[in-house]
Amino acid sequence: MRIVMIGAGYVGLVSAACFADFGHDVTCVDKDSNKIAALNQYRIPIFEPDLDKLVESGINSGRLRFGVDLSDISNADAVFIAVGTPSRRGDGHADLSYVHAAAREIAGLLEGFTLIVTKSTVPVGTGDEVERIIQETNPAADFAVVANPEFLREGAAIRDFQHPDRIVVGTEDERARKVMGRIYRPLYLNQAPILYTSRRTAELIKYAANAFLATKITFINEIADLAERVGANVQDVARGIGLDNRIGAKFLHAGPGYGGSCFPKDTRALSKTALDFGVQLRVVEATLTVNEIRKRTMSRKVAGALDHDIRGKTIAVLGLTFKPDTDDMREAPSIALIAGLLDFGAKVRAHDPVGMEQAKKELSDIEYCDDPYACARGADALVIVTEWRQFRALDLERIRTDMATPIIVDLRNIYRPEDVRSAGFKYESIGRQ
Ligand SMILES: NC(=O)c1ccc[n+]([C@@H]2O[C@H](COP(=O)([O-])OP(=O)(O)OC[C@H]3O[C@@H](n4cnc5c(N)ncnc54)[C@H](O)[C@@H]3O)[C@@H](O)[C@H]2O)c1
Repeated sequence: MRIVMIGAGYVGLVSAACFADFGHDVTCVDKDSNKIAALNQYRIPIFEPDLDKLVESGINSGRLRFGVDLSDISNADAVFIAVGTPSRRGDGHADLSYVHAAAREIAGLLEGFTLIVTKSTVPVGTGDEVERIIQETNPAADFAVVANPEFLREGAAIRDFQHPDRIVVGTEDERARKVMGRIYRPLYLNQAPILYTSRRTAELIKYAANAFLATKITFINEIADLAERVGANVQDVARGIGLDNRIGAKFLHAGPGYGGSCFPKDTRALSKTALDFGVQLRVVEATLTVNEIRKRTMSRKVAGALDHDIRGKTIAVLGLTFKPDTDDMREAPSIALIAGLLDFGAKVRAHDPVGMEQAKKELSDIEYCDDPYACARGADALVIVTEWRQFRALDLERIRTDMATPIIVDLRNIYRPEDVRSAGFKYESIGRQ
């Protein structure tokens, strides 16, 4: 199939490279000419494990091209829209301006029957609006608009794309079903279930999935707070409930609150969409509020570990990205934590294995260190914020002798309390004694 992918971000780039790997002919287009120039020189503008190899083999096979020009649309069987849908400033609705602009740009270039596929996460009704824009811009166009939300996780994006739990295709158009079936045929042969639904249902599935996962995380975070008070261990609680198949073990890791490019904006957008339709999603609203407060509360937890004597103290932060194996800093819990620490008058230095370039755009008033040991040297407390593998087996002896005071606050529970305490540290974690 001939595919045009609009947007070369985390989703567009991974999808384009994977579709080319399936054997399709793919042109990936982005407005950002620097991104495209880098990609044409085999340089990947984001950090995503193994994406470099897949892009390189796609380019070398002749099946993957990058450009800023949309002219390949005239020959395409399907045009995927994978542009950003960030929170709209002010009201938290999804900002659909990039999606609508892409629809307008596509419209005039369509020739022959073409699918327009929204891969971006878009609120219910966006497919109808994309259809309206294209019809209005080019009344002669022969097309169908399909919702095909993406569920990949940054850090495991290629595996998730190639081995999805499910593929959701929202369309009631027979021709569209056939084209989508051919596009995903290689995965279907690998037994990935394709779920055909109405377009609005597909749009809602994506938000419902993210809201549910965000709620699950928030639930265990609140249980962690209670576990701390009553002398229980949240990890054992999570295991104890997660072994129940109706609950499941995933997304039950207590931590500093969820962040990232999807959960915060998608939970906000879902609750706004619901209100537009006269429905109040109270559980989702509670999740949003609890999570925002939690992210900010983490700085108080660190201050508490220093008996609130934090002004002028140096805090070493390990991990800045919202999760390991990505350089994505969008709404990372580290941002609220560090803002809180700076407000308390602390000095902050930080290390992240791949996220420091991105972090510098968000966090300018801190010192960046090349490795965890340099970060810990002379610090009054060490805070583990992102559970990078590199932080799981630190040389605690070396860190203790280098720090001004041996205090570790582990917001991801990656160490066993007894191990860290027997290494001579004061140790605090989440939902454990
Ligand atoms: N990041 C994830 O893990 C993830 C997972 C599932 C779904 N999603 C959804 O996928 C969508 C994209 O997310 P992302 O993280 O890849 O975003 P991103 O910001 O990394 O990338 C979007 C890209 O689109 C480009 N762009 C915007 N308008 C354009 C236009 N008119 N023409 C060409 N290029 C244009 C931008 O320059 C940018 O490179 C969002 O709706 C997001 O919610 C993201």
